[in-house]
Amino acid sequence: MNLNSLVILAILRNYSNRLLLYFDLKLLSKIKLIELSLQKEYDVFELGSKLGYLPYMIDRFIEMLGESETKELIKFNETTLPQSIRLNSLRNSFENSERLLKRKGIQLEKNTEFPESRAITKSPHPIGATPEYLNGFYMLQGKNSLYPPRILDPQEGELIGDFAAAPGGKTTHLAQLMNNKGVIIALEISANRCRSLKSNLSRMGVENTAVFQMDARNAKDFDLQFDKILLDVPCSGSGIIITDPTRKKSKSLKDILHYHDYQVSLLTTALNVLKTNGELVYCTCSLEPEENELVISDILKKADVKLSEIGVKGKPGITKFLDMDLEKNLTKTRRLYPHETNGEGFFIAKLVKNDE
Ligand SMILES: C[S@@+](CC[C@H](N)C(=O)[O-])C[C@H]1O[C@@H](n2cnc3c(N)ncnc32)[C@H](O)[C@@H]1O
Repeated sequence: MNLNSLVILAILRNYSNRLLLYFDLKLLSKIKLIELSLQKEYDVFELGSKLGYLPYMIDRFIEMLGESETKELIKFNETTLPQSIRLNSLRNSFENSERLLKRKGIQLEKNTEFPESRAITKSPHPIGATPEYLNGFYMLQGKNSLYPPRILDPQEGELIGDFAAAPGGKTTHLAQLMNNKGVIIALEISANRCRSLKSNLSRMGVENTAVFQMDARNAKDFDLQFDKILLDVPCSGSGIIITDPTRKKSKSLKDILHYHDYQVSLLTTALNVLKTNGELVYCTCSLEPEENELVISDILKKADVKLSEIGVKGKPGITKFLDMDLEKNLTKTRRLYPHETNGEGFFIAKLVKNDE
């Protein structure tokens, strides 16, 4: 907390009733949150409600993490993640891009897991408005979203499907990992989002990708068999409350069940167009078991696929939720929680299609 906030807090304590009226409501709620998380030991439900969560969300976090870790998570969600970028070797070498950014006073910190990722530790300029950004030397991208393309591990000669592609953070990463060789078929249902996808592909110098505005559930119309598929499905987004606090309230349990059915249908059709022994990475930025382990569990029951180890940090997928016992091998999936990884929340699973 900086000096200004301390002074404001002191004033608030002394003259709260009279001065409250004069404060911008947004600033006020931010200050209240800081005070809340720093000074008082609240019961986890009370804290959740003060921070603006729907009660059902807290219930489920407790079911998955226990009370004390739920508190850690929801307090962490009130903090700000360090900005990070992915350097783009399709446009410039990492060294050159780093040199240009450093010359502008932008300070970067290397990431031990991904050679292409940098945290921004200081920037005198908005990082999304530099000439280097416009030239496609980097993408603004949270470090945890680099895992799914890295886990899919696309190779230069392969046919890759990206079946929920816009705005293209992961598509452009896949193209970079393939050195612009091979082919990516990027599917996106929304016309608006297709525009941002195309603009990112062009800015980042991607040349191996064909974009189709269509429902990925019709992917069989291509009559193609894909070597690998990335499926970064639409979801409730409870893993990204740290960057989008509206998600504390915007989704109901009914919405989550709707997402579950939609995700199962997307995954079912994607597996139908995957080659035998082909690999599929399924991911969400949700923490809800219905959108994660329960989707994979449904698929394991009806499709001829197996789960593969993905060997990244994070917690193993859960195998028990409410009164349900799930397949033990769901521990091969991964849950990346914000408070544990200092990044956005993700669920990741890798499936391999069995020989017929
Ligand atoms: C989580 S976002 C994908 C983010 C993207 N992979 C990235 O890294 O930038 C999910 C996307 O799937 C799209 N989508 C939803 N339903 C779809 C469908 N049936 N077929 C294709 N795309 C779909 C949404 O419009 C949204 O753009």
